[in-house]
Amino acid sequence: MPAESPAACKKLLIIGATGLIGKFITEALVQNTSKFDRIAILTSSATVQNKAQEIENLKKEGVDIIVGDVTNSKDVVEAYRDIDTVISAVGRDVIEHQVELIRLANESDTVHRFFPSEYGTDIEYSPASANEKPHQKKLIVRAAIKKCDKLDYTYVVTGPYADLCLGPMMGQLGSFDVKKKEAVLLGDDDIKTSYTTMRDVGKLVTLAALHPDASRNKALKVNSFTATNLEILQEFEKQTGSKWKVSYTSMDQLKKIEKEAWSSGTPMATGATLRRIWAEGGTLYEKRDNHLIEAENIVDTLEDAVAEAIKQQTKSMI
Ligand SMILES: NC(=O)c1ccc[n+]([C@@H]2O[C@H](COP(=O)([O-])OP(=O)(O)OC[C@H]3O[C@@H](n4cnc5c(N)ncnc54)[C@H](OP(=O)(O)O)[C@@H]3O)[C@@H](O)[C@H]2O)c1
Repeated sequence: MPAESPAACKKLLIIGATGLIGKFITEALVQNTSKFDRIAILTSSATVQNKAQEIENLKKEGVDIIVGDVTNSKDVVEAYRDIDTVISAVGRDVIEHQVELIRLANESDTVHRFFPSEYGTDIEYSPASANEKPHQKKLIVRAAIKKCDKLDYTYVVTGPYADLCLGPMMGQLGSFDVKKKEAVLLGDDDIKTSYTTMRDVGKLVTLAALHPDASRNKALKVNSFTATNLEILQEFEKQTGSKWKVSYTSMDQLKKIEKEAWSSGTPMATGATLRRIWAEGGTLYEKRDNHLIEAENIVDTLEDAVAEAIKQQTKSMI
């Protein structure tokens, strides 16, 4: 790794810019265009076709749209020209391919910083993390990046997204259903988890790029807020004005669901393991790193996240 003070992150390339979290990262970076010299995205021709309006809007904001295939090295080398920082937000299906993206970044004359697609659970939280199935590909990526001699890195570790966890989608894996006023809590009332809203993920990645020294060669453990199951439930009850029906999925039940999901190979297996890790305290730290990148007072609170969840879930009722 280079020993001298790191260079600035000014010319950015986002890969996975229109994905679930990439959209929020790109939006936050674009809102800060004046602080960067260049913002580009590398995206596929299919995305350019299927998300034409989104791509058009980015173009209007001054974003360079580079069309290519992330699995084609020639396209990637071309996209890395005049770029100093790569921010990857690729989906789980292509996580491992980042090893090649990192190799090419290390060989590039201009790229000096790589943000791999993390934006979730700390995959090196404890010794037990090394054996967790959903972490394996991201661990390979971290190992590849640490071997580079010319490339710095930043892992933005945010924990689970409040937008998803405070929604109804995960059913018995933990959910808050505003229309039915029903919640399923994982474990018990006192289980505490650290959450980040998706819009905050965008802001936090932007601030990490704007603080290249503080964010250099580390896992930045940032979040929006930490809350217990009961605190979240009570906030929903307060904001919706009445008591909710509550049920629980015990840790033993969760582990059983997790085991069955992995043996039958269902897609929910990854989600079940992550939920078990979160419920076991795998998102909690004595101190968060928000202060390192001047992000102490700009993040969402539990109140904000619950208000947003209510807004999203009642949208179609308005
Ligand atoms: N903390 C949490 O609760 C949480 C939740 C979900 C995800 N995550 C993490 O966030 C990161 C991004 O995940 P995501 O869900 O946002 O990703 P996603 O929406 O599935 O995909 C992101 C983008 O990857 C790009 N991509 C390029 N080649 C691809 C290929 N062959 N297959 C699939 N995608 C391809 C696409 O970019 P274009 O738009 O340019 O086409 C796509 O939009 C991952 O590291 C994931 O683990 C965290």
